Amino acid sequence: MAKKRILSGMRPTGKLHIGHYVGALENWIKLQNDYDSFFLIADYHVLTTSLVSDNIYDNSIEMMIDWLASGLDPEKSPFFRQSKIKEHTELFLIFSMLITKARLERNPTLKEQVRDLNIDNLIYGHLGYPVLQAADILLYRGEAVPVGEDQVPHVEITREIARKFNIQYGNVLPEPEPLLTQFSRLPGLDGGAKMSKSLNNTILLSDGPEEVWQKLRKAVTDPQKVRKNDPGRPEVCLVFTYHKKFNPGEVAEIESGCRSGELGCVDCKKKCTAGMNDFLAPIIDKRKYYEENKSEVIDILHSGEERGKKVAGETMESVRTAMKFG
Ligand code: TRP
Repeated sequence: MAKKRILSGMRPTGKLHIGHYVGALENWIKLQNDYDSFFLIADYHVLTTSLVSDNIYDNSIEMMIDWLASGLDPEKSPFFRQSKIKEHTELFLIFSMLITKARLERNPTLKEQVRDLNIDNLIYGHLGYPVLQAADILLYRGEAVPVGEDQVPHVEITREIARKFNIQYGNVLPEPEPLLTQFSRLPGLDGGAKMSKSLNNTILLSDGPEEVWQKLRKAVTDPQKVRKNDPGRPEVCLVFTYHKKFNPGEVAEIESGCRSGELGCVDCKKKCTAGMNDFLAPIIDKRKYYEENKSEVIDILHSGEERGKKVAGETMESVRTAMKFG
């Protein structure tokens, strides 16, 4: 039986952090074995959130190096940039005729962004963000979309657009399902709900042992555990969340040591640093290889873009034919 097709993407904001890994990348790496996979560098979408001074190309390459170093296999899964495959913008334009402004204004992810980023002058591109995302997914005829909870409304809009297109022009596009990442957001070092570059509370996949220690050293813990021998509450401590993910072998021991007060926060953070570094070491190693062999990275990108273009071109042909553009 043919493998089901998945497509997912990330906005290139530079080097990735462990939150990206846990929230998406880890899942992609597993899925690439069972699905026909396509991974998009959403370098047009990044214009909705990034500073104008960012170098989009350099950030895309850095992100791609993290994908490769973490284990995404470019043979199984082509990687490509949105801005290099013109069909994204063509389909985006067509799709913008198939959805109302009112529907896009109801998008909960948009409302969240407006609130979090304090946007007071909404641009047209913000409203159209999920329409471009629908084009990303449907150009490759994605049947499933591995994403976190916050992106589910965008997949729903994609389904609505596909349905509308098919009713109007004939059955051309699939209606994709979200494929939820089970581990949700990793908390930030400041105790905030999520890791985010703009909040400066991240551990990067490229952080070496000393950087990891310097960052963890200052991380927020249980405010009730003031001195070493005070009993702590692992369930409110973000370092404990990191242990669960990056140091699973010691979790039981750390939990009881924290509760009894035997284990102090400094020692606990040292253990967490060790676990994290063991996890990061092979990624950093592979990263070094790709940093030293950038031309290989660029070749991988170009060959992914060739493969992407082919599929995108075929879909656009079917779309044009169905719409009687001739
Ligand atoms: N909007 C996604 C995010 O911010 C990135 C993205 C762009 C995407 N195009 C996509 C995700 C297509 C899945 C499918 O995380």
